[in-house]
Amino acid sequence: MALLKKCFLPALGLLLAYYFYPTTDNFRPEMLQGKKVIVTGASTGIGEQIAYHLARMGAHLVVTAWTEEKTEEVISECLKLGAASAHFIPGTMEDLVFAEQVVTKAGKLMVGLDMLILNHVRTGKLNYFDGDVASLCKTMDVNFFSFITMTSAALPMLKDTSGSIVLVSSVSGKISSPFVAGYSATKFALDGFYSSLQTEFQMMNVNASITLCILGYIGTETEEKFLSGILKNVKPALKEECTLSIIKGGVLRQKEIGYLFSVSFSVWNPNRMINECFVSQKYDIDKFKENQQLP
Ligand SMILES: NC(=O)c1ccc[n+]([C@@H]2O[C@H](COP(=O)([O-])OP(=O)(O)OC[C@H]3O[C@@H](n4cnc5c(N)ncnc54)[C@H](OP(=O)(O)O)[C@@H]3O)[C@@H](O)[C@H]2O)c1
Ligand SMILES: *[C@@H]1O[C@H](CO)[C@@H](O)[C@H](O)[C@H]1NC(C)=O
Repeated sequence: MALLKKCFLPALGLLLAYYFYPTTDNFRPEMLQGKKVIVTGASTGIGEQIAYHLARMGAHLVVTAWTEEKTEEVISECLKLGAASAHFIPGTMEDLVFAEQVVTKAGKLMVGLDMLILNHVRTGKLNYFDGDVASLCKTMDVNFFSFITMTSAALPMLKDTSGSIVLVSSVSGKISSPFVAGYSATKFALDGFYSSLQTEFQMMNVNASITLCILGYIGTETEEKFLSGILKNVKPALKEECTLSIIKGGVLRQKEIGYLFSVSFSVWNPNRMINECFVSQKYDIDKFKENQQLP
């Protein structure tokens, strides 16, 4: 018990303080003025609010979602709020060809790209896993493969602008929770893939930032419908505030941010740090490059 008090608790305290530290805030809305941004899943919820913030800040916007009517309304609202331009490209992210085309079209409409905000999601009902692998594949396409497809298509433009990729993820992508096994897997996959990609960017001197956003329970229509009555004593956070933190994290090029119980903070990712140390010390990069060029 004494040992516990003496060593374990202070160590835990230190670890927690290191893991979650407050964000230093040198954000100014002007940073987004005239910037060219794609926002996915912007018909409603978090994507819609991200679009409104960016519009107020004077950004160029291309938004995408599946349902057309609602998203057309989002576009008119964005123009009213002061967007430098606003376009809508409708389609489903189950179709990876569409995912690629959205980026190409958006690049043409805005003549370049500064920020890619990947937010769309296929959730499905809260349920015990029922063995429906076909549905899981679809969820993986929408929540994971379309993210990778859009990132690949956007990378040439983002390299030109030293731009940013923002990934909207969830606490369920860090700590697995019941009833959302498939969703949770897709969010864990994003963390694994993009942490690796970030290290590769660093190795190849690609100056495009990647920001992973770990969100807790946010009061969007979909999520409130899912969780109200099921989650005990947890109140949803305001989507308006959460979405501002997402934009800030992206623009300030933070690697990982959290938004839990209405508090925004930076997250220290041990995986990334270990990767960074390991890569510089344990790999012979020159040899690797040589080998890669072999047929
Ligand atoms: N709300 C929360 O509590 C919470 C917590 C943690 C993480 N998050 C994350 O935050 C992000 C947004 O969540 P949200 O609550 O705002 O969700 P939401 O309100 O349900 O919005 C989801 C968006 O994704 C689009 N979408 C769904 N399926 C699509 C498809 N097949 N093709 C193209 N677009 C599709 C929807 O468009 P249509 O309406 O046209 O289908 C909608 O615009 C997600 O990545 C989610 O994982 C949310
Ligand atoms: C990367 O791009 C950012 C944003 O344009 C810039 O502030 C930073 O200095 C760049 N870093 C390098 C190493 O070029």
